[in-house]
Amino acid sequence: MKMLDLLVKNASLHDGRTHMSVAVRGGLIVEIAPGLDVPAHEVIDAGGLLLSPPFVDAHFHMDACLSHGLPRVNESGTLLEGIAVWGELKPLLSQEALIERALSYCDWAVAKGLLAIRSHVDTSDPSLLPVEALLEVKRLVAPYIDLQLVAFPQDGVLRSPGGVENLKRALDMGVDVVGGIPHFERTMAEGAASVRLLCELAAERGLSVDMHCDETDDPLSRHIETLAFEAQRLGLQGRVNGSHCTSMHSMDNYYVSKLLPLIAESGVSVIANPLINITLQGRHDSYPKRRGMTRVPELMAAGVNVAFGHDCVMDPWYGMGSGDMLEVAHMGLHVAQMTSQNGMRDCFDAVTVNAAKVMRLQGYGLQVGCDASFVLLQARDAAEAIRLRANRLKVWRKGKLVAETPEVIARLTVANRPARTSFFKVNQEF
Ligand code: FE2
Repeated sequence: MKMLDLLVKNASLHDGRTHMSVAVRGGLIVEIAPGLDVPAHEVIDAGGLLLSPPFVDAHFHMDACLSHGLPRVNESGTLLEGIAVWGELKPLLSQEALIERALSYCDWAVAKGLLAIRSHVDTSDPSLLPVEALLEVKRLVAPYIDLQLVAFPQDGVLRSPGGVENLKRALDMGVDVVGGIPHFERTMAEGAASVRLLCELAAERGLSVDMHCDETDDPLSRHIETLAFEAQRLGLQGRVNGSHCTSMHSMDNYYVSKLLPLIAESGVSVIANPLINITLQGRHDSYPKRRGMTRVPELMAAGVNVAFGHDCVMDPWYGMGSGDMLEVAHMGLHVAQMTSQNGMRDCFDAVTVNAAKVMRLQGYGLQVGCDASFVLLQARDAAEAIRLRANRLKVWRKGKLVAETPEVIARLTVANRPARTSFFKVNQEF
């Protein structure tokens, strides 16, 4: 074999393989095998740690990120007050501030091994200022991040004046995906009409669809049913995604038993946003308070592709977050009670391979012929990576090292304690 650019030896892979070597040349993975010994310009011994494909966030709002407190904080914590606060901020936005905040977030993302993001961008205002800003950000970050944009009519494509025209103009400008928000339209019928209109628009233009769908605790919000129907009717299988789908949490079990196979059959994927769903949903409940996240393990068992998104970081809806998709997986694991070994691995897949499938990323994965983009984590397997929100020791993008964290070995030993407690010996590797 010709001289390699990079050889990562002795890595564990997320699919369970161990002692694997990953060979890289020309920005691509050219071989994966146990114990490869081929000359390379750079050789990294992973020491048995986990080498993962990059993290992927299939649902984010980069136009609003890092704006927490502008112009005021969402006091009630509800989705609707968040939309109102964002509405107050919109007239104050500038192109420069939008770009600066987005680029700051992209720096955080790369450091966390998050190398692909699907961001919704608000198309409600006729100025389309956020669209122009994020198209520029997409161009600037292209060497580091696959940034995909969704035309998102935050105020309702039918409810807001000029909603359809503004959205079409955003697509003309180069936005990749058609978005929507049927549960925010004026009536259920208008919501269903918006789903139909937007899916037809996507079919005409050969685009994908990613709709905020049923982000409500109302069990009668059933736009996911219409979305699945339209995906099938228009031959959009594999190109349509329902984001949030939180109403499914509160739906009647009998209805869900009919709905799940319909979603699977339509090829519609679903994105849950665990951090945001557990924060925003159930706000009108007393006790017991609903968790509000969609039925993740049941959807997966029915054969539906399910990803987890971060959705918000420090914006009018959520004052927390750091671009760490392991934090997202950690919350998803708890809220969905996915505590079995397979469940934990499924949560890791939800922020990597499943999310990549939603975005229809080309060249993604730890396979021969894929881009040499991967993350060396300070953990031995997927479950441990989630448990520790593990350090990203090294992040490569198409064969180039783009971020690095010094290895932290924290060895805590309880010493010099009274004899009564001396049997407590904490020896934690990480
Ligand atoms: Fe969202």
